[in-house]
Parts: sequence; structure tokens; C-alpha cells
Amino acid sequence: MNKLIILSIVLGLVFSQSYKGDLRQYTFDQYIQEFNKGYQYRSSEYFMRKAIFEQKLAEIIAFNELPNQTYKKGVNQFTDLSAVEFKQNSLGYSKNMSNFRAFRNLSVKNLEVTEQQLQSLPVNVDWRQLGVVTPVKDQGHCGSCWAFASTATIESYAAINSGQLKTLSTQQLVDCVPNPYQCGGTGGCNGAISELAFNYVQLYGLTSEFKYPYQSYVSGVTGNCTFNQNKQSPEVALDGYVKLQANDYNAVLYALANIGPLAVAVDASQWHNYQSGVFNGCDYTQNIDINHVVVLVGYGTDSQLGDYWLVRNSWGTKFGENGYIRLARESKVTCGTDYTPLDGQACAGQNVPTKVCGQCGVAYDTAYPTNVTVIG
Ligand SMILES: *[C@@H]1O[C@H](CO)[C@@H](O)[C@H](O)[C@H]1NC(C)=O
Ligand SMILES: *[C@@H]1O[C@H](CO)[C@@H](O)[C@H](O)[C@H]1NC(C)=O
Ligand SMILES: *[C@@H]1O[C@H](CO)[C@@H](O)[C@H](O)[C@H]1NC(C)=O
Ligand SMILES: *[C@@H]1O[C@H](CO)[C@@H](O)[C@H](O)[C@H]1NC(C)=O
Ligand SMILES: *[C@@H]1O[C@H](CO)[C@@H](O)[C@H](O)[C@H]1NC(C)=O
Repeated sequence: MNKLIILSIVLGLVFSQSYKGDLRQYTFDQYIQEFNKGYQYRSSEYFMRKAIFEQKLAEIIAFNELPNQTYKKGVNQFTDLSAVEFKQNSLGYSKNMSNFRAFRNLSVKNLEVTEQQLQSLPVNVDWRQLGVVTPVKDQGHCGSCWAFASTATIESYAAINSGQLKTLSTQQLVDCVPNPYQCGGTGGCNGAISELAFNYVQLYGLTSEFKYPYQSYVSGVTGNCTFNQNKQSPEVALDGYVKLQANDYNAVLYALANIGPLAVAVDASQWHNYQSGVFNGCDYTQNIDINHVVVLVGYGTDSQLGDYWLVRNSWGTKFGENGYIRLARESKVTCGTDYTPLDGQACAGQNVPTKVCGQCGVAYDTAYPTNVTVIG
């Protein structure tokens, strides 16, 4: 098949927007056409999906009519999925496997930020404006969020350090990153964490999307690792990663302003119908269930909607604001608890409720690769 066609499908470089007209006029038949859903007309699946769609659409319309909301909901590729299907197919970080401390402690960095440094941070940070952020991609039916977030972060540091913005291979990470302790899932399309990806790239390097293209979008399954350093020469190298102290807001702000984008773990359970604005739909009084990995590319203040974190997602450009979501950034550190049983030192079932801070837990697990250099 034509490589360009594959690339453009894979990269989700489809800049069309989801339906922005009056949703009360929007029908399921329009929806399946717009989102290319291949359901057979009036089959049992068709009716099952239609029922889910119509219920979700009614919720979206009702929510958008509430006064004083800081964000809007809308339809997208997830509108006809059940909550269970959404979690199984579109995330990729299984919390109960994620807390392998013996491994993950090794490089925690305590960025001491002084009051003076904090005062002199810029009001707005958006790494996209510096031309060091690649277009948003779409993970498709594979729980590879962790690989997309890792690749995007590495791409940005390669650009920051070299001036060259390269599109790197996500499939290499999906297929090749080992996950023996089942951190964040069982690996590949079944979830992992960005720290493992950074470790792997430190050993093998990372090749380009062109030389090792993304295929799990459609298949939804992990491929066999076919990376061959001679045939698919690596384009970048790095020498490790830094993980910030958990829940340190100031360190996150400082790193975003002075170092670069961060791979972060979040609770995306409620993001499926986000369309625009500053999202504050994660409820701190409920279980915050970290289950997705994305990239923080900045922060800022919206004159009407308040302070936000700027987050790059991997659900294509039809999701949210051209593939991005802005999360509410509270002025005081606000925390919730993840009650999901966590694995302790050896990833073997310990029930340790964990404190997670920031909207949807955004300040809890933040990491970036170090000394990324372009070698290709
Ligand atoms: C909604 O916003 C209006 C105008 O800003 C304000 O007067 C009103 O009190 C707000 N209502 C609620 C429920 O917060
Ligand atoms: C990791 O951190 C936990 C708690 O902060 C501590 O109990 C444990 O000893 C640490 N492990 C290593 C290998 O440093
Ligand atoms: C991986 O290789 C095995 C053995 O050759 C094969 O059975 C399997 O289908 C391959 N998996 C994929 C996703 O191609
Ligand atoms: C993690 O969660 C999955 C699905 O909920 C469950 O099947 C598995 O046993 C859990 N693993 C541990 C170690 O608790
Ligand atoms: C990056 O490389 C420099 C020079 O080789 C080294 O001094 C520094 O420690 C490295 N940084 C990290 C975080 O490893």
C-alpha cells in the first residue's frame, strides 16, 4: 500500500472537525457516516449502537444547556461506545499494575522551586508555538497511549535540542518495549508506562514513523518486534529520564516553563465527550482512577474560563480542541485518592490508596527523557 496513505491515516492528519451544528438535529445515520462506522444498516449492532448514541447525545445536549460550565461536550468517535468499551479500547494504562516502586523510585527528581522562581514563571507556556510539537496522532483500537505520549515527548526534546522536528515510531515502542513487571498493564496494546519506553530507547534508540509505521490502529493488537538497527537506523538517542516528585505542582510548572513537555498519567474516564473549554469534570471526592498517559505541553489562563493545563491527547484531531484538552488548574493544590488496589514493590497486589493531585491526577506521575539527541 502507498506509504503516504498509510502515514496520513496513521497520523490522524485529518483536520476535519466533529459536528458543530445544532446537536438536536443530529441523527445516528449522520453520525455513522461522519465517523465512518461500518455498521450494517438496521443490523442488531446498528440498533444497539443507536441506543447508546441517543442516550449519550441527550446527556451532551443537557450538559451544554447548564449555566456556568467551563467546558462543552460534543460527539466524537466514542459517542456510540459503552463506558466499558471506551475504557478497554482507548486508554492504555492499567492502574493496578502501575506502582512498581522498586523500579520507579530510581530516578525521582526533586526540583526545588523557590518562591522567587515561581513568581517569575511566564503566565502562558505553549511549546507548540515554538514549533517543537508534532501533529496529534490517533492510537486507534490499541491501548498504546503510553507509547504515543513517550514518542511525542521524545520528539519534542529532539526538536528543542536540535531544531529538527521528526515524527518517530510509536509501533517500535508498542512492539518492542519489554514490561516484565507489568507496570501500567501487560505491555504493548495492553498498557505500560512512559518510563519503560524511555528506558528502552536509552538502550536501542528510536527510529522514524516512516521506517517502522504504526499498524495497531486497526489491528488493535501488539505486533512482533521487528526492529532491526541496520535496516531501521535509529533517529534519536537519549540517556535516561527524570520523574518529578509526585504531586509537586510547582515542579510541574517550573519544568514546563524551563525544560519542556512532560509525559503524564491521568484519569481520562470522563474525557470521552469533551469538546472544548477548560475541563473540570474529574470529581476529587470520587475515586480518581489513573488510566491514561498523555503529554502536558504547557499551561495558561483563559480570560473567561480560568487557569488550565494544556494537554496533548492521542485520540486524533477530532477529539476536543484539535486533539487537545485543557484541564482546570486550581490555584491551590487539590488532591483526590486512587483507591484502586495498587501493586507495591513487586507488582504483586498490595492495596495502597494513593494520593493523586491536580485535575484528573495530572500532577501525580510526570516524566521526561533526558539528553535527547538526533543521530539520523
Ligand atoms: C453563573 O454566572 C452568573 C454570571 O457570571 C452568576 O451571576 C451566577 O451566580 C452563576 N451561577 C452559579 C450557579 O454559579
Ligand atoms: C521507594 O519509595 C517507597 C516509598 O516512598 C519506599 O518505601 C521504598 O523503599 C523505595 N524503594 C527504593 C528502591 O528506593
Ligand atoms: C507474531 O509471530 C508469531 C509467530 O511467527 C505469529 O504466530 C503471530 O501471528 C505474529 N503476530 C503478529 C501480530 O503478527
Ligand atoms: C488488575 O486488574 C485486572 C482487571 O481488573 C485484574 O484481572 C487483575 O487481577 C488485577 N491485578 C492485580 C495484581 O490485582
Ligand atoms: C546529559 O549529558 C551531560 C553531558 O554528557 C551530562 O553531564 C548530564 O548529566 C546528562 N544529563 C542527565 C540528566 O543525564
